[in-house]
Amino acid sequence: MAEQTKFRSEAWWGKSGRDGFIHRSWMKNQGRPDDLFDGRPVIGICNSWSELTPCNAHLRGLAEVVKRGVWEAGGFPLEFPTMSLGETLMRPTTMLFRNLMSMDVEESLRANPLDGVVLLSGCDKTTPAQLMGAASCDLPAIMLTGGPMLNGKFRGEDIGSGTDVWRFSEDVRGGKMSMDDFMSAEAAMSRSQGHCMTMGTASTMASMAEALGMTLPGAAAIPAADARRNTYAHLTGRRIVEMVREGLVMSKILTREAFENAIRVNGAIGGSTNAVVHLLALAGRIGTPLDLSDFDKLGHDVPLLVNLQPSGKYLMEDFYYAGGLPAVMRELGDQLHGGALTVSGNSVAENIADAPCYNREVIYALDTPIRPAAGIAVLKGNLCPDGAVIKPSAATPRLMRHRGRAVVFESIEEFHQRIEDPALDVDESCVMVLKYAGPRGYPGMAELGNLPLPPKLLQKGVTDMVRISDARMSGTAYGTVVLHTAPEAAVGGPLALVADGDMIELDVEARRLHLDVAEDELARRRDNWQAPQAAYSRGYARLYVDHVLQAHQGADFDFLVGGSGADVPRVSH
Ligand code: FES
Repeated sequence: MAEQTKFRSEAWWGKSGRDGFIHRSWMKNQGRPDDLFDGRPVIGICNSWSELTPCNAHLRGLAEVVKRGVWEAGGFPLEFPTMSLGETLMRPTTMLFRNLMSMDVEESLRANPLDGVVLLSGCDKTTPAQLMGAASCDLPAIMLTGGPMLNGKFRGEDIGSGTDVWRFSEDVRGGKMSMDDFMSAEAAMSRSQGHCMTMGTASTMASMAEALGMTLPGAAAIPAADARRNTYAHLTGRRIVEMVREGLVMSKILTREAFENAIRVNGAIGGSTNAVVHLLALAGRIGTPLDLSDFDKLGHDVPLLVNLQPSGKYLMEDFYYAGGLPAVMRELGDQLHGGALTVSGNSVAENIADAPCYNREVIYALDTPIRPAAGIAVLKGNLCPDGAVIKPSAATPRLMRHRGRAVVFESIEEFHQRIEDPALDVDESCVMVLKYAGPRGYPGMAELGNLPLPPKLLQKGVTDMVRISDARMSGTAYGTVVLHTAPEAAVGGPLALVADGDMIELDVEARRLHLDVAEDELARRRDNWQAPQAAYSRGYARLYVDHVLQAHQGADFDFLVGGSGADVPRVSH
């Protein structure tokens, strides 16, 4: 590739007179020598570090290692903070703020003298938010995720972030685990720096970034505490400087082929349903055509190869030792577009040509998969005209075709009020329906879809029921859970019309979700339906509710779709 010699940052550093003085002089208060402003690539290190985001709390240290690589390659690294989104603390849901964080990233990149960027992410939404923001600028960009925590260890057993919390809490509610034991599992679960070490949303999105070609090959699975993550940080710092010199911008990597690869890899790893909304939003930013049906067309027949919680048994640390994502991608072989370019400067095929698998218990071979067709299924029907999703690999096979009586909850608060009541009219054949938890309704499309089961059924030994909502589900969760129904209830989607006692039919094989109620009765209910009062009248949440798109469109803001490039803005003085 021809080397680029004139960089964007020269519009700041290269100026003479008053403006150049201002741009350089204030930077010199950090002790920067003159020759740093001599036209070398300026590399932003976009850091979502925060002590309020425990999964990203180690990223300051990782940034220092990235800088080593940038210096070594002749670049000028400048670290800057952005908003961070901590899944475990933020209310009502981090998804409410994904688009806000992406705006912070986009505007910080464009407004500053940056020629390329290293994106440092970790917790669930920080990865898509950074990719989306950077895509709207289309500078050379490379991602380095913070890596998963080490396996949880509790009384001689491995335990997984999230997945085992759901299991333990159901055990407490069902009387199978004491509260004391539950409490002592806390520290045992999160015992090192890093993000959730199940194949939850953080590990999924790290894998998606790698499958898209946005990280160095092999980066997703390295535990945060492993020294080899620092090695990758160093190499990432070196590589971004070369990318700037090569003019390797994001749009050269995030092609249709890259997204198709990501969708197929998501099926093979048993990845989170959250990948659907994030990949749709990212494709919208970079201008690559992608729609919800692509996830079914491209992903439905992908075999499940990775035996990780919540779909399987193992955790990310095991996945790394088994060979990580390159081993899975090599196994998929010509199911992937081998020619897709990646940030390494090599194609996918070149990156994975020699990728070994060291443990067939963790990464299965393509001809002997864990399940033959495990990709996310996209449902259609009169209950979800614009689609809904289900993750077959996390569902109970016998419930994938089911007809049951609806037990409806108009809000999550109503659900919590009623679910413990022994008099609740529900049995294991029922379909639990939650409304008004979608993008506009919650607002923010919270991870409420895996509704806990009624205690009286847990005590009977029931482990799963069909659940339907316009919400999302934590990537660490499992169950026969239909999510992302669109249009959502809050905009008058058919979910809003479901009443207690209606019969609902789910047929995953036929991709069908049907509300068995006569059309004239639905019309009558539609006439009587009233839109809920907006929960927020001002501020960011108001902006969100006014502009968020539906789940099948990636829940981005209507005005953020696409990009504005990285042209140097007008002068500030
Ligand atoms: Fe941050 Fe799971 S809570 S990755």
